[in-house]
Amino acid sequence: MSIIFYEKEKIFKLDTSDTSYVIKIYDENYLLNLYYGKKIPDVNFKGFEKRLPSASFSPSNPVIGEHGFSPDSAPIEYGCNGAGDFRISALSVRNANGDNVTDIRYVSHKIYAGKKPIPSLPSTYANTDDEAQILEITTEDKVTGLQAVLVYTVFENCPVMTRSIRLTNPTDKPMHVERVFSLCLDLPSMYYDMITLYGRHCCERNIQRRPLAHGVQGVESKRGVSGHSQNPFAAIVSRGADEDHGEAYGFNLVYSGNFSALAECDHNGTTRFIMGINPEGFEWFLDSGETFYSPEAVSVYTDKGIGEMSRIFHRFYNSNLIRGKYKTQKRPLLINSWEAAYFDFDTEKLVAFAESAKELGIEMLVMDDGWFGKRNCDNSSLGDWFVNEEKLPGGLKPLIERINQQGLKFGIWYEPEMISPDSDLFRAQPDWQVHVRDREPMIGRNQYVLDVSREDVRENIWGQIYKVLSENKIDYVKWDFNRNISDAGSALLPPERSKEFFHRFILGTYDLLNRLTTAFPDILLEGCSGGGGRFDPAMLAFSPQIWTSDNTDPIERLYIQFGTSMCYPASAQGAHVSACDRTGYKTKGDVAMWGTFGYELDPRKLTPEDREIVKNHVASYHKYYDLIRGGDLYRLISPFENSRLAAWQIVAGDKSSFLFTMVCMLKKDNVMTFVKFKGLDENARYKNEADGEIYSGAFLMNVGLNLTGCVNRDGESFTAYFTQV
Ligand code: GLA
Repeated sequence: MSIIFYEKEKIFKLDTSDTSYVIKIYDENYLLNLYYGKKIPDVNFKGFEKRLPSASFSPSNPVIGEHGFSPDSAPIEYGCNGAGDFRISALSVRNANGDNVTDIRYVSHKIYAGKKPIPSLPSTYANTDDEAQILEITTEDKVTGLQAVLVYTVFENCPVMTRSIRLTNPTDKPMHVERVFSLCLDLPSMYYDMITLYGRHCCERNIQRRPLAHGVQGVESKRGVSGHSQNPFAAIVSRGADEDHGEAYGFNLVYSGNFSALAECDHNGTTRFIMGINPEGFEWFLDSGETFYSPEAVSVYTDKGIGEMSRIFHRFYNSNLIRGKYKTQKRPLLINSWEAAYFDFDTEKLVAFAESAKELGIEMLVMDDGWFGKRNCDNSSLGDWFVNEEKLPGGLKPLIERINQQGLKFGIWYEPEMISPDSDLFRAQPDWQVHVRDREPMIGRNQYVLDVSREDVRENIWGQIYKVLSENKIDYVKWDFNRNISDAGSALLPPERSKEFFHRFILGTYDLLNRLTTAFPDILLEGCSGGGGRFDPAMLAFSPQIWTSDNTDPIERLYIQFGTSMCYPASAQGAHVSACDRTGYKTKGDVAMWGTFGYELDPRKLTPEDREIVKNHVASYHKYYDLIRGGDLYRLISPFENSRLAAWQIVAGDKSSFLFTMVCMLKKDNVMTFVKFKGLDENARYKNEADGEIYSGAFLMNVGLNLTGCVNRDGESFTAYFTQV
């Protein structure tokens, strides 16, 4: 890892463990992006800034003259609006004159060790100062006085860079930030595919791959959250790249609000990629002396295929994003009441669940929605975070004592950023809902969104949450968010700041999450939004795990978990076994074992045979805990590419063992199944725990095993565990 400034060439070279990123200060202090890819030793980039301006239609800088350089075609480091670069812009700031021409140029830079947090926003971190190095390039728009600092972090142990930008208005006149992206990258070709993750409630993060084409393409959210529909992730991969071969650039925005990830292929056949806050519905009033901080974007590069790109994300997120006690400490195996009882529970039923779950080896009971206010279905009480004593007589204390007596920990559900029209809170504070003047807001799941952009609202909600968490022995919180944000506005925001609402809302959410993780560092936090509607790296910075989907059908889960693994580690993927009857319990457990693992059913209803299967899975949970959370994932057979089978393998970091799982989605007779394994030490010998057979790593990776007949029916699963001998 190193960041070096080559004075003579006026070049910055930013190296991670395996990549180089090259920026040049060109004539008139334009910043050019010359290279991002595999690590290189030299910086002779003579002639690289030359592109093909489109005759008189690509403007020239009057000082530089018409020498083949135009902002319209040059590989601009951070593209701005209106000053000769007609491609998608990363920055547009309207000034006191009313125009939004923006043109930032290099002023100075500094390089230092370590990594600083971004004020009010979650971000990745360095475990020690030696692990990361930062380059801050200060730029200025000479005409308006706008100051923009481009911040780059490179990491020592992995091919990961992060980027963000901060804008300061040092003048005495206000400015309006119309768009500010976290990352801008110009690549010298358009022969790439773009991979993104689309979905909906109960069907999250399907893999979409398309060839880049001339024009603008990409994904975004306007839902107020990252959302089910598109994830703030995109990869640009070389044509033909597969799991094991080819170049892959992966990008992920550390942000839970409206985002945009766009690629434009221009008239020169080059590609600009930008990722950041969605400019639609956004504007920030940057008053004199104020600073705006963009969220952070993570970027990964590898020339070893899409699978390796995913593993780089997984390792990086496990070590440099997820934090707190449960980053390393073993998480309790939980059972959640939702699919077992929905709103229909009381103390006796929960204690009965715990008694039965205890016999299976389950370690924590989570009481889901329905414990507060008068909530017996989804039409009331959000905002009234006090115990419903009709269900839980005497409150939480006697319940938790009885759960704890069974030896189980106790967890609870919240949906803090919401308000039901039928709630004491709404009756007392009707303008605390998210709304705009004179317009009746839309309703979703019978609820409004609570305006957590407001400090007074956050004080109230936090006060209620704090009371419950501080007065009771609570080991886990599930933090839900069950609708998207329409009618985006706050009663407190003046008209000139009204388009700040979406970003201020997310900052409010982060403030609440920050209060919780600071005041209760021992609580295990699980994120959720109708399943995986807010599955993003910013939430992972607070909650080490996120409920992946409300869909617990194991076959559907294969798609959801494969897609989610594009950039999110197994340790983050909430995965439970439910009573859904598409397959037997063996398959349900084998699929949930990929993620955090837990149960979501009435344990008293399990047959004696199924209880034995559950006990075996509970034992496997402990046996494979470190392997699954710390190991390397190989997607061997993807359900997106094979309608018959799905298979994956998790290999220990030191290659000493691996767990293989295969699921038959649709049985087909007369099809042989040979599986070649990946990621092993070819010189080591591995023993199959089931039959004692021993093979070299080279054999398993090149010949593979004949697994024909191991899964014989639709929905059947097969696992195998190998250890080095
Ligand atoms: C969301 C969650 C579920 C459950 C319900 C409760 O849909 O994803 O797991 O908590 O809310 O209302």
